[in-house]
Amino acid sequence: MQMNDYDAIILGAGGAGLLCAATAGQRGRRVLVIDHADAPGKKILISGGGRCNFTNVNAHGAFVTERYISANAHFARSAMDRFTPRDFIALVEAHGIAYHEKTLGQLFCDGSARQIVAMLLSECDKAISHGGHVDIALSCAIGEVRHSDGRYHVRYGNKQASAPSLVIATGGPSIPKMGASGFAYDLARQFGLKIAEPRPALVPLTLGGEDVMLRELSGVSADVAVRCGKANFREAALLTHKGLSGPAILQVSSYWRHGQPIGINFLPDEEPGWLCRMKREKPRSNVKAALGGHLSARLAETLADKIGLAGNLADAPDRRLQEAEAQISDWRFLPNGTEGYAKAEVTAGGIATDGLSQKTMEARKMPGLFAIGEAVDVTGWLGGYNFQWAWASGVAAGQAV
Ligand code: FDA
Repeated sequence: MQMNDYDAIILGAGGAGLLCAATAGQRGRRVLVIDHADAPGKKILISGGGRCNFTNVNAHGAFVTERYISANAHFARSAMDRFTPRDFIALVEAHGIAYHEKTLGQLFCDGSARQIVAMLLSECDKAISHGGHVDIALSCAIGEVRHSDGRYHVRYGNKQASAPSLVIATGGPSIPKMGASGFAYDLARQFGLKIAEPRPALVPLTLGGEDVMLRELSGVSADVAVRCGKANFREAALLTHKGLSGPAILQVSSYWRHGQPIGINFLPDEEPGWLCRMKREKPRSNVKAALGGHLSARLAETLADKIGLAGNLADAPDRRLQEAEAQISDWRFLPNGTEGYAKAEVTAGGIATDGLSQKTMEARKMPGLFAIGEAVDVTGWLGGYNFQWAWASGVAAGQAV
């Protein structure tokens, strides 16, 4: 069996693994990246509708503790303060990749996500001029991984490699049909690291029971405010034949736990008391027409039927209108589940941060073992936050291996 020695072996050629490899290679390290997929960066290619929402200008500083979910809200801060959206944007600009801000600080390529993968591979190639190199072994199943004599030994395909540093960058199990797996967790457990229970996140929610009435409105969307516990998002929600989706729902899904209701404010721009005011200004109007001014006709009709106030506003007592307003501004749903890993953009939970150094991502009790990217219990909001974590954690480990 062919045996190769490296300074670092990185398992996973996704965004985190590739930038980690480039960073280490440009420090003169000899790096091997192993992936079972037939091409690197496959999730980058499908991200952002093929244009890759590669960062968010707000993914830094105090926003980190608010916009990333983790058992330790402060863990990500150190790495993200040292490699910020500005740093990644500088890289994108140095490679002449045109980009634009779509909304809420989200940066997308003007052209294609392929440019980001090409940029990362080109950064890996630069290792040569710094005395290092990066080998990428694709379509390779990873076999036994063991640690002896201060080195990690990895079997892959019909080869074996060893290095004093091993980086787990195989992501989480979201979108298994793309080769995503729980491999990172098995390996982390093998070396004594704990796992914060993984769950699908940034995922559509499914509805049953009384809420199924909304499934008939599949395809209808509305600009709403969605609440789950203390989490609150103001974006679009989309009704689907299985339940609820759209950015606002995906965001709140990362906070949602089974048995918890979510509340939707269908008219988030209205000031309290708007329905009573409307009664005085347009007494011959009705609830359906009031809703129809802001929502699609089908949604307005369904909500109005459910509220059950059919007649003119003038005929309804103020107290009844206040109740209707309260219902519209906090419409309660009890999701019966999510669409699972098959549809989840990311996995929340993962390798527990208390076993890792927040500066280098190295395991505290297992020298030379690192974990980065989605495999770790750090999950960002929708909108470029997850890639920024992949880049920042990849760079942190790449500077330490
Ligand atoms: P990632 O999953 O990218 O890479 C892991 C690598 O490990 C893969 O190449 C995989 O093949 C390999 N691997 C897994 N198991 C293995 C095994 N057993 N053996 C060998 N190799 C193995 N985020 C964002 O910020 N902006 C966006 O626009 C989007 N859009 C988006 C769209 C869709 C459809 C999805 C599914 C996800 C997004 N995301 C996103 C999330 C983003 O893609 C995700 O957070 C990063 O890709 C995580 O990067 P990692 O490198 O950690 O894992």
